[in-house]
Amino acid sequence: METILTGIRVNGELTLGNFLGALVPMVRLANAHNKNHNINIFVPDLHTIISDVDGDLQKNIIKSIKYYLAAGLEPNENVYIYRQSHVSAHSELNWILNCVANMGELSRMTQFKEKSEGKEHVGVGIFDYPVLMAADILLYDAKYVPVGEDQFQHIELTRNLAIRVNNRFDKEIFTLPAKTLDQAKFMGLDGGLRIRDLQNPEKKMSKSSKSENSKIMLSDDPKVAAKKIMSATTDSEANIKYDMFNQPGISNLLQIEALVNNVPLQEVISTWAGESRYGDLKQKVAESVQTFLETFQAKLDLIPDDIVYELLEAGENYANKVASAKLSTVQKAFNLR
Ligand code: TYM
Repeated sequence: METILTGIRVNGELTLGNFLGALVPMVRLANAHNKNHNINIFVPDLHTIISDVDGDLQKNIIKSIKYYLAAGLEPNENVYIYRQSHVSAHSELNWILNCVANMGELSRMTQFKEKSEGKEHVGVGIFDYPVLMAADILLYDAKYVPVGEDQFQHIELTRNLAIRVNNRFDKEIFTLPAKTLDQAKFMGLDGGLRIRDLQNPEKKMSKSSKSENSKIMLSDDPKVAAKKIMSATTDSEANIKYDMFNQPGISNLLQIEALVNNVPLQEVISTWAGESRYGDLKQKVAESVQTFLETFQAKLDLIPDDIVYELLEAGENYANKVASAKLSTVQKAFNLR
């Protein structure tokens, strides 16, 4: 069976961008394919500590798993949930892949450049985290990795590292994850998904943004979130059209409207085609986001911790078996065994 796999760092609350860009697509794919695919959802806690953690990491981990359940993930025998640090093969393969990756390609990673720019002290973890991400994916031969557009470069890096190892030993040691455009198609999209900053829609919505009005957090008071949508930056075209390049603010609102209501983007675009009143669109999206958050937060509160611990126990048993078998294949190829 092919594997679909994803992870979301948990160094604090998630943004609506994390949620709509990665978590919701994963839940939809998982529910649609859990009969004939392995569904691996893991908490990249080792990735999380590359930057400061807001709040209690242990609590963040448990809450992040509840997010998937509250978003509708159906537990099933092919759905595995685990913590990265509880499967030591991730760290071990990370080291081996460090000896395959080169400084040049890692220095070119946009995320690394953005996170290190202007900083005097840049942690080695920030530099190396795409290699750990490659290990996360390759240990399980994952074919599909639902992530937002900002992570596409890391998927390409993962493919390159896998090709390098396979070529070196002239064997298919690793399964290549699908190319990023094929990943997007599998998610039912034309390209990568990037929810924009509400105040500066040229940029992606990011937790690190200083302005509270730029981002919606999953823990936001739903009414406050609605106000943030009402104050979103748009443009002066007076034409509601999906055009991320010329009208990123309006396009972002259309995108959010489609995703929170689980309807195709094309349908939302057609509904609003030819309309000019941005206030009406904002009102509608604000209501959708408010209702969505109210429902989501109410569901979240009802999920007990015990369910999460049971899922982790089963998931970590499975993950340790699969990952150590793959690690052993790699160790043999490198003549370490
Ligand atoms: P992270 O934790 O920074 O982000 C989690 C997921 O959220 C997506 N995302 C967005 N999508 C759309 N619009 C946005 N504004 C937006 N902001 C964030 C990200 O693309 C990502 O999918 N390295 C990864 C975590 C990771 C991982 C993995 C993912 C570690 N190992 C293996 C998949 C497979 C990261 O730091 O994502």
